[in-house]
Amino acid sequence: MKKTVLEELRENSAEYLSGEELSKKLGVSRTSIWKHIKKLKEEGYIIESSTKVGYKLIEAPDILYPKEIERLIDTEIVGKEIIFMESVDSTNNYAKMVAADSFIEGTLIIAEEQTLGKGRMGRGWISPKGKGIWVSIMLKPDMKPEQAMQITIIAAYAVAKAIKEVTNLEALIKWPNDIVVNGKKVCGILTEMGAEIDAINYLIVGIGINTNIDKISFTKRGLNTATSLKIEAGKTIDRKLLLSKIILNFEKLYLDLVRKLDITNIISSYKKLSITLGKDIRIIHNDEEQLGFAKDINNSGQLVVILKNGEEIEIVSGEVSVRGIYGYV
Ligand code: BTN
Repeated sequence: MKKTVLEELRENSAEYLSGEELSKKLGVSRTSIWKHIKKLKEEGYIIESSTKVGYKLIEAPDILYPKEIERLIDTEIVGKEIIFMESVDSTNNYAKMVAADSFIEGTLIIAEEQTLGKGRMGRGWISPKGKGIWVSIMLKPDMKPEQAMQITIIAAYAVAKAIKEVTNLEALIKWPNDIVVNGKKVCGILTEMGAEIDAINYLIVGIGINTNIDKISFTKRGLNTATSLKIEAGKTIDRKLLLSKIILNFEKLYLDLVRKLDITNIISSYKKLSITLGKDIRIIHNDEEQLGFAKDINNSGQLVVILKNGEEIEIVSGEVSVRGIYGYV
């Protein structure tokens, strides 16, 4: 009912809606309408109320409430079920807990803040309240575990495309799934899987986007290869819009992939945004470093590298870190 009251206010946001009109239309008492309005105000909605003319929605809060996202997406599976939390240790950890039981494919876990955000290779991920997009998408693709990397690839492409759509910034991809703007990282993706030898039980795609983080948060932590969309665009970014575009882009690619299981087109779009391809790179694995040239990305999403000795290898993202020869990109 609270959602219906909000929808009515949103649809009529140019004018005041009287409590009486609302109560008649929705078939509930005026006291009940008043209670829902009170609750919405507590959630951060700015609603003007006057005993004479009624209620008017002035502004929705900058919070990724399910009801704010659901209205912007029209998807078949991704985001049909949303779990929202003000604060959690890590949305990926929470998703894993949910996955221990049965879950609805496409369930989206959203948190306004993570207190123990996880990055790749055991690193942490700073996730301040209300300043980013910290989400996990729960999937159960009917594919072999070794194909799972393709999902990470499509997630990176979906995010890069959405960033361009919403901010007009040139978002590029550092293989396999760091999104980079002006040479610095704005987004990381951590995919975690529960699988048997030949079947995936669950796949969790954790996406972290530094959306409206201020420069000081990075500099005080000495993070000089990270940036945020706000810093690069010079203005605050609409997190709801960005998240909804990511969901829409991701679902389209995901359904294309699992239904046709043909990734050629996706890989070729991904390659156009790659800042790794055609570069000399360093491959870091267990503190050992090898030099090579990034020649291609194959249909499994692996990076094809020619090593200094001429040997050609294919690397899987796993525990390997790939850097530019002089620095991060
Ligand atoms: C990386 O190291 O580049 C990956 C970072 C992934 C961060 C996201 S934020 C949402 C999800 N929950 C986590 O704990 N991590 C991922």
